[in-house]
Amino acid sequence: MTSLFEPARLGDLVLPNRVVMAPMSRVRATADGLATPSMASYYAQRASAGLIVGEGTHPNAVGRSNPGTPGLHTDAQVAAWRQVTDAVHVNGGRLFAQIMHGGRVSHPDTTGLRPVGPSAVPATGEVFTPTGPQPTPVPRALDLTEIPEQIDSYAVAARRAVDAGFDGVELHGANGYLISQFLSSNANLRTDRYGGPVRNRVRFAVEAVAATVDAIGASRTGIRLSPGGVFWGVEETEVTALYRELLTELVRLEPAYIHLEATAEEEVLLELRRAWPGTLIMNPVLPMGPKQTGLAEAEHWLGLGADLISFGRAFLANPDLVERLRNHLPLAPDDESTYYQGGDDGYLTYSTYRYSA
Ligand SMILES: Cc1cc2nc3c(=O)[nH]c(=O)nc-3n(C[C@H](O)[C@H](O)[C@H](O)COP(=O)(O)O)c2cc1C
Repeated sequence: MTSLFEPARLGDLVLPNRVVMAPMSRVRATADGLATPSMASYYAQRASAGLIVGEGTHPNAVGRSNPGTPGLHTDAQVAAWRQVTDAVHVNGGRLFAQIMHGGRVSHPDTTGLRPVGPSAVPATGEVFTPTGPQPTPVPRALDLTEIPEQIDSYAVAARRAVDAGFDGVELHGANGYLISQFLSSNANLRTDRYGGPVRNRVRFAVEAVAATVDAIGASRTGIRLSPGGVFWGVEETEVTALYRELLTELVRLEPAYIHLEATAEEEVLLELRRAWPGTLIMNPVLPMGPKQTGLAEAEHWLGLGADLISFGRAFLANPDLVERLRNHLPLAPDDESTYYQGGDDGYLTYSTYRYSA
């Protein structure tokens, strides 16, 4: 079986190990969506990952889901990311930006704009705003003529990501955000070529990947997916058919990887593994579920044919996760109360393993 600590190729990169840091929003950016020196330190501390996938980053103003998330649509944001990408590279790491358009999971109090989505169907749940959590509003359904601009926002942000020094980008196609809303059968009620049968529901995702591949090249483009996931009220019918169709279309574009979450039965995920000839990053547990990804889950999925394994909470709490896993050292627990609280506490304060005599 492949070891977690063997090198791997990813696009044009050689990763020294197969441990990927999963994307995690930590809402420590400025009100203008600028990355900060603390963010540079946080990612630099974790540069021994084979690959870091950075936190969800909005490609335009309307796509911002939360106050405190960083953006990639202004020159100032590009300049601010430089300190982060430089810090990771100086420490020997590799960093992709996760491009996340929130779609209907957003709020006018955060963006000054009415959120958009495939249809005028609100998400379930409450979204963070500058004055605290509020119910998600009814989005404005995108007109057919507006869809190309939203698709292009991923490609333009990808170009900006490369300008900012990122090694590539991951499109956020998971967890109930815009791409996932188009894949969904209850958030997407469109009757045009972007809604209805599976070949239409995958179109937005495929066109977003195609535009990004055109902009920065296939070897620097990945996509994250959560087959069957039910985040923010999205539901998907015909999960296997939907994702088989999506992968069939994506194969032609040859992106560097797909990043799957364990949101469906293992049997379904294995079928998708077989349908995908390229690199598979597997995130082996249900996001926000009770169980975290650890060595056992990673080895299970390497045995099932995953190429790389992503770790979220374990990496959040253990900057030296690779060394800890390699040496079977205990992992520090993460503190949920500091995920989104801002500041350096619970952000820069997790230490490397301290050996005692
Ligand atoms: C604080 C936090 C923030 C997260 N933010 C994102 C995000 O921005 N984008 C994303 O795709 N997933 C996000 N996730 C989900 C993780 O990438 C991962 O799928 C999840 O934590 C499960 O993996 P784990 O058991 O290894 O933590 C987040 C998870 C956590 C804990």
